[in-house]
Amino acid sequence: MDYLGAHLAFKSRWEKTDEELCRHSMSFVLHKAIRTDFFASYLYLLEKYPLVKLFALTSEVIDGEMQFYARARNFYRDCPATEESMMGDFFDLSSIDIEVSREFLRKFVGGPGKAGTDFALDCGSGIGRVSKNVLLHFVNNVELVDMTESFLEEAQNYLEDVAERVETLYCYCLQDFTPPARKYNVIWMQWVSGHLTDKDLFEFLIRCRNSLKDNGVIILKDNVGREGCRLDPVDSSVIRDMNILRNIIEKTGMSIIAEEKQPGFPDTCVPIWMFAIQ
Ligand SMILES: C[S@@+](CC[C@H](N)C(=O)[O-])C[C@H]1O[C@@H](n2cnc3c(N)ncnc32)[C@H](O)[C@@H]1O
Repeated sequence: MDYLGAHLAFKSRWEKTDEELCRHSMSFVLHKAIRTDFFASYLYLLEKYPLVKLFALTSEVIDGEMQFYARARNFYRDCPATEESMMGDFFDLSSIDIEVSREFLRKFVGGPGKAGTDFALDCGSGIGRVSKNVLLHFVNNVELVDMTESFLEEAQNYLEDVAERVETLYCYCLQDFTPPARKYNVIWMQWVSGHLTDKDLFEFLIRCRNSLKDNGVIILKDNVGREGCRLDPVDSSVIRDMNILRNIIEKTGMSIIAEEKQPGFPDTCVPIWMFAIQ
């Protein structure tokens, strides 16, 4: 019998050697030991790899990953393909957003030791608001990636005379998308990181790192909350606090080379921050 060897090995720990009692106590002791070991290693991982904690964090607030992604898909499917939709309720703030984004990007592009000006990737591009008003002022060509087909279709009209400088429109969810290797000088992610779980954002950033050219830079611009991680049930996104966001970025092995708060938005808005990552 299988348990007999184990019983003999632990014999000194039992006063009673009744076979039946021994079998039950062995399974009880083993069960307890496994459980204790499991929690010990989980706690060890939490200490050693804060990401384990982060993954648990979004999982707690999103109420199921599949639902989280499906709700966002449904939300955007019903949104008209307009600049207003890209800005949520804050269309009036598009011009100040654009102006500040240009000033921020200017610091990292063009010139010795900075990112080149060949190609940018606009992630969660929507109709291409950032490509048209920011990226194409610095780089020759852009590519757009977004999960909502109607937004990409509208991009061709919306981009007007700069549409010819768009090489490819990728209709993909970022969590399933691998950008081409070593292609981009600039990768821009605005108001989309909150649509990814911690784990998917972390892995997507790593794939972005692999698709940067030398001196290339990733700009992440998004809402940053006061504390913890909170679900916005309207568009099915999460608002992370500064520590969580920094932690995810730095775990990818990249560094935040600059960060800046978007000025000019009303105090009633969740603060918006820009991070330059390399
Ligand atoms: C608030 S809009 C921002 C659009 C654009 N970045 C801008 O600033 O004008 C969010 C965009 O992210 C896209 N999106 C949301 N979740 C996504 C995902 N998992 N993968 C790819 N695109 C996603 C939506 O389709 C939508 O176009």
